[in-house]
Amino acid sequence: MEKFAVILAAGKGTRMKSRREDISKVSFQILGQPIVQYVINALKPIGFSKIVTVVGFGGQTTNKIVEEETDVVWQKEQKGTGHAVMMASPLLESLEGETVVCCGDTPLLTTATLSALIGKHETRQNDLTVLTSVLDDPTGYGRIKKENGKVVGIVEQKDCTEEEKQINEVNAGVYVFNNRKLFAALRNLRTDNAAGEYYLTDALGIFVAKGDRVGTFIAQNFSETLGINDRYQLAKCAKLIRERINKALMLSGVSIEDPETTYIAPTVSIGPDTVICPNTHLLGLTTIGENNSIGPDTYFKNVTVGRNNRIIYSHLVDTIIGNETTLGPWLRARGSVVIKDRAHIGNFNELKNVIFGEGSKCAHLSYLGDADIGAEVNVGCGTIIANYDGVNKTHTSVKDKAFIGSGSTIISPVIIGEGAFIAAGSTINKDVDPDAMAIARCRQENKCEYAKTLRRKAILKSQKSKKLK
Ligand code: UD1
Ligand code: CA
Repeated sequence: MEKFAVILAAGKGTRMKSRREDISKVSFQILGQPIVQYVINALKPIGFSKIVTVVGFGGQTTNKIVEEETDVVWQKEQKGTGHAVMMASPLLESLEGETVVCCGDTPLLTTATLSALIGKHETRQNDLTVLTSVLDDPTGYGRIKKENGKVVGIVEQKDCTEEEKQINEVNAGVYVFNNRKLFAALRNLRTDNAAGEYYLTDALGIFVAKGDRVGTFIAQNFSETLGINDRYQLAKCAKLIRERINKALMLSGVSIEDPETTYIAPTVSIGPDTVICPNTHLLGLTTIGENNSIGPDTYFKNVTVGRNNRIIYSHLVDTIIGNETTLGPWLRARGSVVIKDRAHIGNFNELKNVIFGEGSKCAHLSYLGDADIGAEVNVGCGTIIANYDGVNKTHTSVKDKAFIGSGSTIISPVIIGEGAFIAAGSTINKDVDPDAMAIARCRQENKCEYAKTLRRKAILKSQKSKKLK
């Protein structure tokens, strides 16, 4: 049977208490990924013929997130979850099949649970199957009303009697519907409830009244059904997602010294025997190979790392690292950096748009911007590549085996030839030939005994000023 999915993501998210008009609740991020993206990722492997996202409040932002992977429909006014699904009717109403409806604010939902829900729906030949879960504290959720063990309705928190509030089986907000019957039922929704909205949950009562087959499926892991309505729940769900990701990595052979302080996005992969030290953030499209030591206090975004590297206290963005390097403490790399095998970049260095060659070293306190550094180069302490003239950025090449003395300023654009030697403290603004020595600083002059004269003058001066007082 053909399958469709609808993600509800138009709501304002009033309980997030944001003053911004341009962001929707589902665009809030966990580990750098919008909440709704988690839902899309859980749906994708099921193989839906069509996934429709309903966007509305902050819709431009949501649209940007979802438009590549789903069809988008707009709900201009947020009149409730039932009304939101109606917005998908031009795309779905006439189709034969089954439709999963879920909320864009439940990022813990897994593909496995969705498949199991669909499986039960199909084996029971239901017209509607609702995912439910049993919570210690069901406050805020729609309650599942049953009679003689059979579901007969869903009552929203706002509409619950005191007795209904005691029910702790709740609606997880995920449903499988017979598609045609869903859109027929939506036409009969009314707004005579505490919120004055078209509740999708009322469709269940309509199915029951018509004698359609309705069932529930209790999620094995209640945490999968947690929805995010406020920022406290956002943090709680984020923690659960982190735990899930960290656990899977640990079981695959990655050591995480302190999972509590380790933030790894779902888009990150890490090879076995790599050790992640505390306070480490690994985000974006980051791929880390085997047997590395990363951290503590390290931040990666879009970083590729090979094998056997040691990277400590560093902040790397858009960077590719080879094998067997030693980086940090306190390396900052950004704006497209490639660090090749066996490089050593030590304390307090910044690299921007640089290719740093095999076996090259930059041990301390340098800024290298817009440059390619060859193999076996030594960049002395405190080297600056001055790549910016206030208007333009220019590029410098340092060829293999060159030696740059400490405290040098290389004013781009220049080419420093293979094996060239730059004397410490030089300011270089011309190309240097291979194997040449460049020295660009004043000659040193030593004045015999003159230090004594200086001291004498200083003492006289201080005595004079005391007398004046
Ligand atoms: C909803 C369910 C509740 C269930 C809970 C599970 C209804 C009426 N209630 O409540 O039974 O226990 O989810 O998490 O369905 N949305 C729109 N347009 C709207 C209103 C909402 O697209 O007009 C979207 C929201 O962006 C959100 C989702 O629908 O992603 C759920 O809306 P929300 O207001 O969070 O519903 P709950 O009160 O949590
Ligand atoms: Ca919700």
